[in-house]
Amino acid sequence: MHDHLEELRRKRELAVQGGGPERIAQQHQRGKLTARERLALLLDEGSFQELGALATHNVSDFGLGEQRYPGDGVVSGFGKIRGRRVAVYAQDFTVLGGSFGAVQSNKICRVQDLALESGIPVIGLNDSGGARIQEGVRSLAAYGEVFVRNVAASGVIPQISVILGPCAGGAVYSPALTDFVIMARDTSFMFLTGPEVIKAVTGREVSVQELGGAEAHSTLSGVTHLVADDERAALNLVKQLLGYLPQNNNDDPPQVVPHDAPDRMDPELDTLVPRDDRSPYDVRQLIERICDRDGFLEIQPYWAQNAVVGFGRLDGHSVGIVANQPAHLAGALDIDASDKISRFTRICDTYNVPIVTFVDTPGFLPGVEQEYGGVIRHGAKIIYGYAAATVPKIAVVVRKAIGGAYVAMSSKQLRCDLNFAWPTAQIAVMGPDAAVRILRRAEIKAAADPAAVERDFAGEYREAFFNPYRAADLGQVDEVILPSETRPRLIRALEILRTKVQLNPARKHGLIPS
Ligand code: HXC
Repeated sequence: MHDHLEELRRKRELAVQGGGPERIAQQHQRGKLTARERLALLLDEGSFQELGALATHNVSDFGLGEQRYPGDGVVSGFGKIRGRRVAVYAQDFTVLGGSFGAVQSNKICRVQDLALESGIPVIGLNDSGGARIQEGVRSLAAYGEVFVRNVAASGVIPQISVILGPCAGGAVYSPALTDFVIMARDTSFMFLTGPEVIKAVTGREVSVQELGGAEAHSTLSGVTHLVADDERAALNLVKQLLGYLPQNNNDDPPQVVPHDAPDRMDPELDTLVPRDDRSPYDVRQLIERICDRDGFLEIQPYWAQNAVVGFGRLDGHSVGIVANQPAHLAGALDIDASDKISRFTRICDTYNVPIVTFVDTPGFLPGVEQEYGGVIRHGAKIIYGYAAATVPKIAVVVRKAIGGAYVAMSSKQLRCDLNFAWPTAQIAVMGPDAAVRILRRAEIKAAADPAAVERDFAGEYREAFFNPYRAADLGQVDEVILPSETRPRLIRALEILRTKVQLNPARKHGLIPS
């Protein structure tokens, strides 16, 4: 009996060493932590329950037979984050470069299956050289097994991918299929084809980080949702993000004890929007002043900056915030902003997070590139996302709500539950400059002073449309509110809507424009 215990102890010790002390030292030299160190930081102390620690591959091709490591390139199992149950896996780069084969796949699929059945989030820490070359088609098929489970779990349990090293080739598609991708700056990268292939095919030279680093994916591609300066910060972001999400789609997000009075008024909001309606302001200030003081977690903050999306809290309850950003492209909607907003509203709807929208947009961005790029089908996604969402929805027209953008940004017709407007709201089919050219064309042509005609028209037009009262008169706006009272108004509205029930027609699935 004693020998049996000893044998298990020895095997476990071996598993804990991953690829061995030398490889661990190399990992540290690269500024990276090991899979087990990462899990220790991510999970509540002592909560990790490992599965498959002794699994090894059964492949003899290309000399792989001699290189067997218990656990085989991934550490997986269950644990708790701030007391909440989660499933986890962490690829171990010290074992054959974290390369992905049948055993790694079996272990990841096992936790994916158990997580889906138990209704708990899955967090994957990625650090891998990709498909294990020696396993050939076995490793390609093994990826397929993970992908199909990513899709099965999509919209049922939160799936979060953290990229902490290489993630190349088709391997990128597992993170891309999950709900959120978080990258660590400088030490992680993602690309389908690397710099060498790109150089051979296109002649263009680009470095690994330029091509697939956190900077590229957080500013240009929109592939990553959050970026952290180092691994610790990346793992902390997972904890923060989970704090806004439920365990699964049948659950409500956790409520935290509020540290901010629900009836707090903020007089600064009354002067936040500049008198000159062409002057920008930072909508993040507005969001931060209205939400609970414990922080707004902005998602994709450096990509499509003309829209701001993220999670906040109102009286301790999670809310998804969507806002136009007048400080960037005047808050105009374009292709990327449409993708950003529509994806976020669908995430909120999936996880029972109410959506609060702050509108200040002059409309969709005019441009040949936008039209050729398909702004029609991308913009349609905003409408689709809002119209299909059945969670509580509240909109506040802060300033401009012009043309198609008025309808798209959570208008009453898209089943928004409560529409508020600030006194600074401007709701019209188009701006006065465009309207005058259509309605006064002949007059302008004949006038000795066309500018005077335009000026007079603009004055009249602004008086008629650049206020919220016509919309309030017609019931398109439920209430014109003081900016300073926005927080208590939203909190009371959300309290009423908490028990909202709304159903969509039964169908296999809708066909969101893409
Ligand atoms: C087997 C691999 C491996 C792989 C790395 N290793 N990638 N073994 N299959 N895919 C091994 C290396 O041989 C090496 O072993 C050890 O891991 C560490 O790798 P290094 O190259 O020494 O590390 P580093 O210099 O940091 O470079 C890391 C790397 C590089 C950038 C990830 O290893 C690399 O380019 N690997 C291949 C990446 C790739 O193209 N993967 C396939 C993607 S296609 P030794 O014993 O020599 O130290 C794909 C298809 C998926 O994944 C399809 C899904 C549908």
